[in-house]
Amino acid sequence: MKSILFCLSAVVLGAALGGTFKGKLETFVDSALEKTGDLLTSDDFSKIQFILYTKYKNYSYPIANAADLLAEPAFDAGKPTALYMHGWRESNESGSVGVVSRAFLRRGSHNFVLLDWGEYVKGDYAISVLRCTAAGEAVGAAVNRMVDAGLDRDTFWPIGHSLGGQLSGVMAKSLDFKPSRITALDPAGPAFGIPATPQLSRDDAVMVDVIHTDAGVSGASSNDGTIDIWPNGGTRPQPGCHIGETDLSDSLLFCSHHRSWEFFAESIDDETAFPAVSCRSWSAFQKGLCPVNDSNVVYMGFAAPATSLKGTFFLRTGSEKPFGLGVDGTRPASAEDAEEASTADHVDVTDDTAATEDSADAEDAVEDASEDAEDGGEDDAVDTHDDATTTSTPSGGLVGLLRRLG
Ligand SMILES: *[C@@H]1O[C@H](CO)[C@@H](O)[C@H](O)[C@H]1NC(C)=O
Ligand SMILES: *[C@@H]1O[C@H](CO)[C@@H](O)[C@H](O)[C@H]1NC(C)=O
Ligand SMILES: *[C@@H]1O[C@H](CO)[C@@H](O)[C@H](O)[C@H]1NC(C)=O
Repeated sequence: MKSILFCLSAVVLGAALGGTFKGKLETFVDSALEKTGDLLTSDDFSKIQFILYTKYKNYSYPIANAADLLAEPAFDAGKPTALYMHGWRESNESGSVGVVSRAFLRRGSHNFVLLDWGEYVKGDYAISVLRCTAAGEAVGAAVNRMVDAGLDRDTFWPIGHSLGGQLSGVMAKSLDFKPSRITALDPAGPAFGIPATPQLSRDDAVMVDVIHTDAGVSGASSNDGTIDIWPNGGTRPQPGCHIGETDLSDSLLFCSHHRSWEFFAESIDDETAFPAVSCRSWSAFQKGLCPVNDSNVVYMGFAAPATSLKGTFFLRTGSEKPFGLGVDGTRPASAEDAEEASTADHVDVTDDTAATEDSADAEDAVEDASEDAEDGGEDDAVDTHDDATTTSTPSGGLVGLLRRLG
């Protein structure tokens, strides 16, 4: 059995780079499940802990008693509750947990609870993936009990990184209610999307916002949310990470993957650091075809985007902390870059594409843009803001962005 799992694991990890691989994977997973089903589903997951973080103490509750956490005096029933789910080979000791929890504690707006399932995801990746379904159901049942005990379901906010992003989807499917929001930070890609391993979907919450930073390698490369945000195009290497990530230390190997929670943590401290603009594709974004207006921007991360906004969003970030570029991040790296990208595809950026009043959507813009040649995507974007500033309808979050421009 061990060798099958090893083999499976190798294939799963190899999968990250292959395309025609799904059928084979399914066969492998089926056979592994046949041989290990008991191991993977009969566990009671009693070693999962719900840990309430406060400045002075962390309060741990085993999953069976998770609802008792609500009676803890440090738990503030008047605040929304964020449930953070870590990834493969992580635990309460991991960097992501430290960074995200400290940002939440600084902000003080939420109860921060860590779902520590480190005991179940510390080994082989394939086994960890296959455990996701049963673990998610166990966690969902615990959350249902917490809601019965008084947890506010309307503001309950699961946030999951990597395998934890996928876990949040499975968990949501076994809740008695639909969460208003799930945030997935580069949800795990390899081995998801086959029947044995259902993946996070946009139906798992009213709003599912996904931040992609290592799509196609550690992270999923599909648009699975109601809002999918693709910083720097969403793939490795993210700025500041190196393409030759051959050193096997986790921080290098997963540098791009980890940007997802680094960006998220920064957004807790600075909600408006990462405006992202609705656009059809990264290449259209790079051509300057998606200028900001008063209804096509979401803030990546903490700030809850308006639920009416859906689709794919793009932005640039810096290569080191603080990563957020503000509104500069909604534009191509430079006007010259935009021009180059345009020329390469024989599409020019025109004033028309950026007109605030009657601009077509990005797709139409690509077609429209081909005739009237006038460059300057960046200027266009600025004009758009000026117009938008004088209109009276920006949403709360957008006001901040527009102020920054002023
Ligand atoms: C709570 O746990 C985190 C690790 O997840 C640790 O960094 C922090 O110091 C702990 N807080 C307290 C007050 O012990
Ligand atoms: C993580 O949790 C374990 C118990 O599950 C505890 O012994 C350890 O101190 C915790 N680590 C931190 C950094 O809080
Ligand atoms: C804003 O831009 C989007 C495309 O990103 C477009 O569909 C929409 O019509 C524009 N809205 C305004 C008010 O210009």
